[in-house]
Amino acid sequence: MLKVSSMRLSCLSVAVLAMTAAVAAQAGEVEVLHYWTSGGEAKSVAELKKIMQAKGHVWKDFAVAGGGGDNAATLLKSRVVSGNPPSAGQIKGPAIQEWASEGVLANLDAVGKAEKWDSLLPKVVADVMKYKGNFVAVPVNVHRVNWIWANPDVLKKAGVAGMPKNYDEFFAAADKIKKAGFIAVAHGGQNWQDFTTFESVALGVGGVKFYHDAMVTLDPKAISSDTMTKALETFRKIKGYTDPAAPGRDWNLATSMVMKGEAAFQFMGDWAKGEFMAAGKVPGKDFLCAAAPGTANAFTFNVDSFAMFKLKSPDAQKAQGDLAAAIMGTEFQEVFNLNKGSIPVRLNMKLDKFDDCAKLSSKDFVDTAKSGGLQPSIAHGMAVKPAAEGAIKDVVSQFWNDDKITVADAQKRLVAAAATK
Ligand code: GAL
Repeated sequence: MLKVSSMRLSCLSVAVLAMTAAVAAQAGEVEVLHYWTSGGEAKSVAELKKIMQAKGHVWKDFAVAGGGGDNAATLLKSRVVSGNPPSAGQIKGPAIQEWASEGVLANLDAVGKAEKWDSLLPKVVADVMKYKGNFVAVPVNVHRVNWIWANPDVLKKAGVAGMPKNYDEFFAAADKIKKAGFIAVAHGGQNWQDFTTFESVALGVGGVKFYHDAMVTLDPKAISSDTMTKALETFRKIKGYTDPAAPGRDWNLATSMVMKGEAAFQFMGDWAKGEFMAAGKVPGKDFLCAAAPGTANAFTFNVDSFAMFKLKSPDAQKAQGDLAAAIMGTEFQEVFNLNKGSIPVRLNMKLDKFDDCAKLSSKDFVDTAKSGGLQPSIAHGMAVKPAAEGAIKDVVSQFWNDDKITVADAQKRLVAAAATK
């Protein structure tokens, strides 16, 4: 008996081995570095893995925890410097140009031309994905950063009628919420989250032109202006409505405070919607979305993308090309963005499966592209080079965390940080 079954077993293993070898002959490995580790994020990236596995490739997950991606960027650098890059890395905005200028990125023009990316992407996005006219990266989505999220039950219990449209309304609502015994603002105290809130406040207080001058072109006049003084004062005032346990908290834990009805609001990009959705919450009923106070006519965009590294193995190169094509494909663009909270970056996609927050995002993306209200997010690597972004982020976060730093002092420090090359 034992003999028979072990014979059967070994025949089976030979068959399995033969099959595996056959698949391996055509399969390539894609190692993908990303920082999508929260509930909604992990669900989203799992869709890409599924698509690649269905094409017969081997997915090697290189996930580095840490919202906003600073940890991932550090690890990526050490891998590339040691001559062992992954196939693809989550790199975006001006950082793509920096990596490309090091000569380590692959030219994706063959797949980009075959798949007609130029006609499928907004030009502003396609330009960011190219280095010297060649595609070196491929975009997955459009996130909007200037959102505020809310728990409608908490608003109701506190007697707040609707989402605040400006900072007067916001602080009036926040006072009522505090009085009713809730945390008004769920905040995760990490420097990139402080910066995310700050960017929305600067836009809401100062308007589009001010945001552009101060946070995109880094004009010292705008950074030293009275408008910036007001933005910093407003930012500091918001801190008074957060809870003492905020320092160090991850962003998705802050989202879950809103979900659970412990807190009323969160300032966060629409990856927060991915968390609500992953928890089975229904937009408009269990949670509300609105443009952050004062920013209804603006849209700070954050386009996630993967840059592809030069690889030696032809199988790995083939898998990399398939990955790039899959990312821009309609199947992935739909299912990924439904989970991620963002909208497809590929133009002319049907949005019938998307909710009202996504539809508002899509409408505002188109409208603000015409009005000039469409602006790159500085807190999410879209607006300026990484060195200046990091320096400004540090100043903003130090100001948030240390009440002894005056507004005037912070403005001086911001001017210096903005000059970082
Ligand atoms: C952003 C990124 C989003 C989201 C968020 C939190 O920078 O673009 O995709 O993952 O960080 O990790």
